[in-house]
Amino acid sequence: MKKHWKLERTPDGIDWLHFDHADSPVNILSTEAFEQFDDILAEIEADPPKGLIILSDKKSGFIAGADVKNFRKAQQPDQVEAHIHHIHRIFQRLEDLACPTLALIHGFCLGGGLELALACDYRITRDDEGTRLSFPEVRLGIFPGYGGSVRLLGPIPAMKFMLGGRSISGRSAKRLGLVDQTAPERQLKHAASQLIISTPPPHRPTGWQKLLNTTPARQLLAPILHRVTAKKVRKAHYPAPFALIDHWRDTGGNEQLMFASEATNLGQLITGPTAQNLIRVFFLQERLKSVAAGIDFKSRQVHVIGGGIMGGDIAAWCALKGQRVTLQDREAKFLIQAVNRAHKLFQRKLKSKRLVQAAMDRLMPDPRGYGVKHADVVIEAIYEDLEAKQTLFRDLESKVGPDTLLATNTSSIPLESISEALENPERLIGLHFFNPVAKMQLIEVVSGRETDPLLMQKGAAFSRSIDRLPLPVRSSPGFLVNRILMPYLLEAIELLEEGVPGPLIDNAATRFGMPMGPVELADRVGLDICLAVANKLAPVFDLEVPEQLHVMVDQKQLGVKTGAGFYRYEKGKAIKENLDSQFHAPNDLADRMIFRLLNEAVACLREQVVEDEDLLDAGIIFGTGFAPFHGGPMHYIHSGGLTRMRQRLNELEQLHGDQFHPDSGWTNLSGA
Ligand code: NAI
Repeated sequence: MKKHWKLERTPDGIDWLHFDHADSPVNILSTEAFEQFDDILAEIEADPPKGLIILSDKKSGFIAGADVKNFRKAQQPDQVEAHIHHIHRIFQRLEDLACPTLALIHGFCLGGGLELALACDYRITRDDEGTRLSFPEVRLGIFPGYGGSVRLLGPIPAMKFMLGGRSISGRSAKRLGLVDQTAPERQLKHAASQLIISTPPPHRPTGWQKLLNTTPARQLLAPILHRVTAKKVRKAHYPAPFALIDHWRDTGGNEQLMFASEATNLGQLITGPTAQNLIRVFFLQERLKSVAAGIDFKSRQVHVIGGGIMGGDIAAWCALKGQRVTLQDREAKFLIQAVNRAHKLFQRKLKSKRLVQAAMDRLMPDPRGYGVKHADVVIEAIYEDLEAKQTLFRDLESKVGPDTLLATNTSSIPLESISEALENPERLIGLHFFNPVAKMQLIEVVSGRETDPLLMQKGAAFSRSIDRLPLPVRSSPGFLVNRILMPYLLEAIELLEEGVPGPLIDNAATRFGMPMGPVELADRVGLDICLAVANKLAPVFDLEVPEQLHVMVDQKQLGVKTGAGFYRYEKGKAIKENLDSQFHAPNDLADRMIFRLLNEAVACLREQVVEDEDLLDAGIIFGTGFAPFHGGPMHYIHSGGLTRMRQRLNELEQLHGDQFHPDSGWTNLSGA
């Protein structure tokens, strides 16, 4: 009897191998699971069945992948290579079994799980949207290493599948030739045993697909794949997809060579800084998810007040994620706009008409606020005005049930100021969503001085239930994310004032690894909003607000929403002028912006806006997109060396002024 696997032989002579990893809600290919699997393969070799069907007993899905813990802190490429060769041997053993083999897939089938399935002769998936197959490895800075890149190495769609890291349904996988059949739940097992008894020839690339797989075709196609990939990511930041393309180009046709190249590449990639930092980000994400672990709070109904940009989108997102939502606004026109935007979101995300309709049915405009009484969570997203918010909460407190979670989406008003209006100020928490709601994964769950800690946990649990990542933060101006982002944005505007062209500033930031340059980001956020936040933070944190920001707002050049800000916008796209080749950019552009952000991060830690460095890094990565391959601002500081980074700040202070004066928190950092 094995701890993680159970082997059963049915009267028709078929072995059913059930995977149910002990002590884990999902199946992962841990070291122990692999060793037991290897032992079972030996048993099967000794007493071969008519066929082998591998399936999962977990509700969540088939297999969620390799145990990422095994890759963390890997430093020796040869140790990684040895591990990869070991797994190659196990999967080869599966492939070489004398009987036909089949993977029966439902739910998640990711990474190493898909590689196990590919080592089987056949694959059947459940035919539903919840069944998703993917190779997410590139997101961890590596590529499929348990034989996946060899067994799938084929024509272009398969390469795109590995390069993109996106998940696909069983039906799409069938179109790719990855899966032999799809079947509804009730017929799944029957279909599996039928397929294994009938043993049709296993799927192989044919026709033009076969042609594209030849060495000359790969040599021709690889540069195209390189170019397409380089448009999305820089090789210096994310080497894995480029390494995959080279591996595909150079080893095609020779399986032994391909396996060896897979192991060598993985050894190099996993021990490199990009993969190590992306693996760190994976665990930071797990940390945010775990903030709500074990909290018993279920919400079915949400009431959102304020149907503007944020409230409308928050309501739509909650309805998309299965909540019944009532949306209240003083003005009907905002409710209509919000419902129209929600409809577009549902169509984009849900595709099927039936599901879109069901989501629309869950979202109810509620101008009179009848939903308040029935809501498990009330989220306020009205104008950023203290008095208006206080009046609203005073009224709300008398109407909501005793267990209703009361939350504000304020971005800059201290929670203590709003909760002054409440008889029970401990009831108020902040749920600070980011714009655009459907894209930004983070929610800052904000506690005021008096907030009940249990309600913070409930806020985190609610955030998870709508598939968002909760970051607990203390109420302090700008909370964490806006506070840290603001000096970075202001420095960029300062550079503009000094005459540095916007595209140069933006290029410096994207070369560092930011998803978008700060000048364009300010335009997209809206210059009026930037100014409002800057004005709030400036007196508290001694920030200087550049004159140009005032001028732009006075001239109603607010960015994308008015068609022009620092750039002009056509169909939402920034028109950036060509650079004057005579212009020599200062060589400390990126440092000026990034070091202001880092210095503010250190100040936030000193003030304990968040509990620790990991939470800070997680917040900034998931709240701003801060270059994930650097592992977060604090990790970046430590990687650069505390002394050296502080020295750089001193240099910048001498060159450019007080705004670079190192925060006193630098001396408290571990290693200082
Ligand atoms: P908005 O101006 O687009 O929407 C505010 C809405 O509230 C309007 O539709 C208005 O009619 C409605 N409203 C005002 N008073 C009301 C009342 N007493 N009862 C019912 N409805 C009322 O504002 P936006 O941008 O959506 O911001 C809302 C809140 O979210 C603010 O506190 C803001 O600081 C915060 N926030 C804004 C972000 C952004 O990027 N816009 C990001 C994160 C938070």
